[in-house]
Amino acid sequence: MKKQTVRIALSLLALGALAACSGEQGLTYQANIKPLLDAKCVSCHVPGGAGYEKSGLRLDSYDAMMKGTKFGAVVVPGSSVSSTLYRLVSGQADPSIRMPHGQAALPDADIKMVAAWIDQGAKY
Ligand code: HEC
Repeated sequence: MKKQTVRIALSLLALGALAACSGEQGLTYQANIKPLLDAKCVSCHVPGGAGYEKSGLRLDSYDAMMKGTKFGAVVVPGSSVSSTLYRLVSGQADPSIRMPHGQAALPDADIKMVAAWIDQGAKY
């Protein structure tokens, strides 16, 4: 009886450890975020594109992205919930400015990856 309790406790511990590790670790701009931006965002967020002309935000390099819009940063390293970029792709802002603008929302997995990358410090 006692042995079994110990075993259950141990397997619960193992489960907890698994859950803690299941989030994607070590996400970087170069490996994980750039391909997504290139495919879904850059067309509008370079000079001449609607997104850049309206907001001043370029998404074709890490430095430009970290500079943000003419009003300021859109990525706050360590805090996805304070990051406009995450709020817009996850639909937490006005639907009229959900990104990508006027197109289908990103897949859930991509939205979660953006959040995880920002929360891990928005590394290059
Ligand atoms: C079809 C064109 C288009 C695409 C594609 C697009 N955007 Fe935008 N984006 C815009 C426009 C237009 C605005 C300005 C919106 C406004 O202020 O009304 C904007 C504004 C923004 C802003 C700034 C909002 C602010 O604070 O002023 C962010 C951040 C942003 N886009 C991120 C993205 C991301 C990330 C993607 C890809 C997932 C993306 N955009 C794809 C057109 C686009």
